Amino acid sequence: MRNKIVAGNWKMNTTYDEGENLIKGIIEKKSTVKSDVTLIVAPPFTHLCCFAEPLQKAGVGISAQNCANHEKGAYTGEISAAMLASIDVQYCIIGHSERREYYGETNDILLEKVKLALKYNLTPIFCIGEKLSEREAGKQFEVVKTQLQTVVSQLSAVDFAKIIIAYEPVWAIGTGKTATSAQAQEVHAYIRTVLKETFGAAADNTSILYGGSCNPATAPELFSQPDIDGGLIGGASLKADDFIAVASAF
Ligand code: 13P
Repeated sequence: MRNKIVAGNWKMNTTYDEGENLIKGIIEKKSTVKSDVTLIVAPPFTHLCCFAEPLQKAGVGISAQNCANHEKGAYTGEISAAMLASIDVQYCIIGHSERREYYGETNDILLEKVKLALKYNLTPIFCIGEKLSEREAGKQFEVVKTQLQTVVSQLSAVDFAKIIIAYEPVWAIGTGKTATSAQAQEVHAYIRTVLKETFGAAADNTSILYGGSCNPATAPELFSQPDIDGGLIGGASLKADDFIAVASAF
């Protein structure tokens, strides 16, 4: 019923040549991944235009890591959703904790980005998750609820049906400290409950991905949980073998 998805967020890694080698490796090994698993890669902006065609030919989705919260105009250095759509990008990661933390992206800004992505037919991969101090204070449910209600709950039912959610506890990102499958499942189930409050049974069709030190060793148990529909992978997506091994964990 729900799409199984494994997406690689390369962040600010790989020169163009390194990136090209990486997608070659992923495309070569893709046949070992079950056909009902959607693979997506999110390289840096500079690589998107040249990677779109080979990835799409191979049946691998292509995503940006961010887009502007304005449609167009005098915003030096920004990349709009329309620009991404014009080079056949299909997905856009929005609200990654690194954008929230280092670039001051608030829930209000993220709502603008999500709406623009949807307007240009990009599928948002909307990221939420609590910081370590919030987890230690037992506030993880409160935090993700606010992140959902200020952005996702503002969408129409038609737009909601298109969105992918990624739960990425900030304390698990790049730390080697994966959430246990029970910790992750607990929050994923809660996210679905919050989405059901606004959108009802449609939330049963929403793919909710786990992110945060997910790797070939931890993916099998995480992906076996009932509300975990795949992963948003950072470090382990930078090696074709590891990325494919994670995607083979279903
Ligand atoms: P790591 O897999 O490196 O922890 O990164 C997760 C992440 O931030 C994916 O968006």
